[in-house]
Amino acid sequence: MDLKDLYRDVIVDHNRNPRNFGALHPADAQADGHNPLCGDRLTVYVKLDGDRIADAKFDGAGCAISVASASLLTEAIKGKSRTAVKELFNQVHALLTQQDAQADTARLGKLAALSGVREFPARVKCASLCWHTLNAALDNAPAAPVSTE
Ligand code: FES
Repeated sequence: MDLKDLYRDVIVDHNRNPRNFGALHPADAQADGHNPLCGDRLTVYVKLDGDRIADAKFDGAGCAISVASASLLTEAIKGKSRTAVKELFNQVHALLTQQDAQADTARLGKLAALSGVREFPARVKCASLCWHTLNAALDNAPAAPVSTE
């Protein structure tokens, strides 16, 4: 399956049946994301276990790409450290914005499908909305307590 087919299938699947949709209470961190171009809004919720993302959910209303991207994000970040999530963000951001960025399907899994958004530059903000929202949530979250043990 080439990336174009993967893009279409993954976006349709995750928009129709978004994973981890709903509020997470209590969340250790959350943030609201807003795309002023269209008015769409998403909230990303995160539960932390030390430095790791123990759980992640999202809710709100958005276009197919923003919902599918948020669904993929919540699946991809669970269990990862904050540092690993930042690296993932950088890879996804490059994939969305750099024409020559290679989709490392082995490392990115289904997230690689997001490279299909490059064909539609107006939709890059749709796909990145949840990622910027996640960053805002993690920036607000208290850092894990430093252990001296
Ligand atoms: Fe609003 Fe895509 S059209 S986020």
